[in-house]
Amino acid sequence: MNPTTLDMFANLEPEQHPRREQMGKQSYVLRGFALPWLDRLLPELEAVLKAAPFRQMVTPGGFTMSAAMSSCGTWGWTTDRSGYRYTRQDPLSGEPWPDMPEVFFQLAQAAAREAGFEAFVPDSCLINRYVPGAKMSLHQDKDETSYEAPIVSVSLGLPAMFLFGGFERSDKCQRVPLLHGDIVVWGGVDRLRYHGVLPIKEGQHPRLGEQRINFTFRTAR
Ligand code: SIN
Ligand code: FE2
Repeated sequence: MNPTTLDMFANLEPEQHPRREQMGKQSYVLRGFALPWLDRLLPELEAVLKAAPFRQMVTPGGFTMSAAMSSCGTWGWTTDRSGYRYTRQDPLSGEPWPDMPEVFFQLAQAAAREAGFEAFVPDSCLINRYVPGAKMSLHQDKDETSYEAPIVSVSLGLPAMFLFGGFERSDKCQRVPLLHGDIVVWGGVDRLRYHGVLPIKEGQHPRLGEQRINFTFRTAR
């Protein structure tokens, strides 16, 4: 029930894609999947961040999150003292979140399809920035109105140790190293699995410098 290594899934299904690692029944790591898209992604990312810069948000409990965040798409995920929610406007500017660049949408859809989820239509892309030491505590993604759509999570820059758990916070986690260009997709029966990121280690990424950037694509509404 709570597999601790990727190997335990090795004979659930014949591995068809050498760069596709199965973590659960409906969850995969797609190694290097974003790499061929990078030259198109990075200029769009820069434009999004010009309109909606990274900022550190506060949890309802009053803690400042170590990852800085921005968003694009119709809905942006935010948190402050009054709770977690999706908003149409960037609370910092009062303006709508920047549109989701077409290439972001296309990448998310292609990755979802590779993991067995046809016709993924993300309306939200959360952009997380981790500097060394920043982390993401174990949580479930459950601020969306439906859990039918999968989560598509793109890793860029410095490596991270991703924790992929079960349906209870206390369940054992798989530890999945994520490198620049890797994409994690989870949905269906795995949609509400706990997950998180251990503190990012010091380092310099040749393309992105001293940071890790993560895109989390979701269907919020
Ligand atoms: C998240 O779950 O919000 C982020 C996961 C990641 O940074 O890989
Ligand atoms: Fe998450």
